[in-house]
Amino acid sequence: MLDTDMQNEMIQAPSCVMVIFGAAGDLAKRKLFPALYYLSAANQLPENFAILGFSREDFDTDSYRELMNRESRIHLDGDYSQQVWDRLVACCHYLQGDFRDPGAYQELARKLGGLDEQCNTPGNYLFYMATPPAFFGDIAEQIAAAGLAREQNGHWRRLVIEKPFGHDLQSARELNHRLLDVFDESQLYRIDHYLGKETVQNALAFRFANGVIEPIWNRRYVDHVQITVAEPLGVENRASYYETAGALRDMIPNHLLAVLAIIAMEPPISFSADEIRDEQAKVLRAIQPMTPEEVLTHAVRGQYDTGVMPDGTRVPAYRQELGVAPDSQTETFVALSLMIDSWRWAGVPFYLRTGKRLPGRFTEVMIQYKHAPNAAFKRSVLKEKQVEPNIMVLRIQPSEGISLGINAKVPGQTLKLSPVEMDFSYDDYFGHEPRTGYETLIYDCMQGDPTLFKRADIIEIAWQLMEPILDVWRALPPRDFPNYAAGEWGPAAAEEMLQRDGRHWRRCTPGGCARKDS
Ligand code: BG6
Repeated sequence: MLDTDMQNEMIQAPSCVMVIFGAAGDLAKRKLFPALYYLSAANQLPENFAILGFSREDFDTDSYRELMNRESRIHLDGDYSQQVWDRLVACCHYLQGDFRDPGAYQELARKLGGLDEQCNTPGNYLFYMATPPAFFGDIAEQIAAAGLAREQNGHWRRLVIEKPFGHDLQSARELNHRLLDVFDESQLYRIDHYLGKETVQNALAFRFANGVIEPIWNRRYVDHVQITVAEPLGVENRASYYETAGALRDMIPNHLLAVLAIIAMEPPISFSADEIRDEQAKVLRAIQPMTPEEVLTHAVRGQYDTGVMPDGTRVPAYRQELGVAPDSQTETFVALSLMIDSWRWAGVPFYLRTGKRLPGRFTEVMIQYKHAPNAAFKRSVLKEKQVEPNIMVLRIQPSEGISLGINAKVPGQTLKLSPVEMDFSYDDYFGHEPRTGYETLIYDCMQGDPTLFKRADIIEIAWQLMEPILDVWRALPPRDFPNYAAGEWGPAAAEEMLQRDGRHWRRCTPGGCARKDS
């Protein structure tokens, strides 16, 4: 994906059929079809291409196309071209079937053979599992039993697996075993849509393509790192899933650790998929697993109560949401303090936090640098602590960009410093392109580039790190839920966790972000 020749001259992906299991579900409507549309608009879809929707729902090809016209097109942003959309929908077909019925896969094989002839696709199939996770193992086994996983005569067969990948270490291992029994690792594309986000990928370019960055990207200069994924939304209509997952499982072993790995990994010796993923696995392995005692002080959980969002809307408590148990103990907020046992990062805390019903949508990485010695300032009217440390912020969403907070002298006769920002904004430099985050991932999968997909070992290491936290939390159910009002920055314990280290979480509001509680 960081192949610059390819970036400059994006080529059409090789001809194939994309089979979407769970074709009538939310993911297909909200993300996959819009992403396919954007790829088609950029002329990056294969010249010979077909989509085959597969699900239990009672549709035929015509009514499925109508469904997508009605319910997917509305998720497109920006200038929308009817012609491009019509072209995409015209190559879309449908097959109704039960995910566990071997007969349905015989039918699938026949249908794919027919599409190969009709659409001139050479037997390359991209199977995309956009279904509830309970079906992942079964679908993979049924595909293989129908002879559709075998790669021969130069064609490829690839399987995309959505998250959640297991709900703990054991289930993730079991799923990996089931998949690896019928597919080769090289055919498996475990998706984490955070890796498809442009700014997450840019963090690699930022670190490794700029000579001034790497020398100060280590424990000598960095005081600590904060990774925040804040969402203003509540649980929406996903209570049945979220009640069994919670914020930790939903976000940390996948999205936040994916971002952490990119920020903290060592430079790879090349940008080949395995070199990059080896480095990511290495840095995740270097994170110290928490002891049960540490879980009590280094992990904080929260659940939102009713409250008022910054736009003035009063919203219900998590326990009042549709499908949520009135005494639910599911966490909707989590904050962790992690240490990485490596030469580069020893002693530098990585603070992670994510939650629902927080004051806004802010996904960012903040690197706070150590205080400058400030010897000269100490003898001036300023105290050392009045000189703010430098911070580097990588904004992932919204308003993607990178900023560097530095101190400048306020004009005037007295010595007064003020933090100011040097800011790079993606939109200003490159313009705004509507994207779902799935375009690169679908395209890379068609191209056979697994760089942005999770390997089995990376998934398992992440779950290993979650195990002690899940164990302690299971053994000690929370007594204080709900413990933060919707519209606030999580429970007080999250702030206290940093205060004990003499630090503060960065605070963002729709009007801007500040380093400290003001
Ligand atoms: C999903 C989680 O994986 O990521 C959701 O299941 C979360 O709970 C979403 O809202 C966040 O993704 P994004 O791209 O909106 O930041």
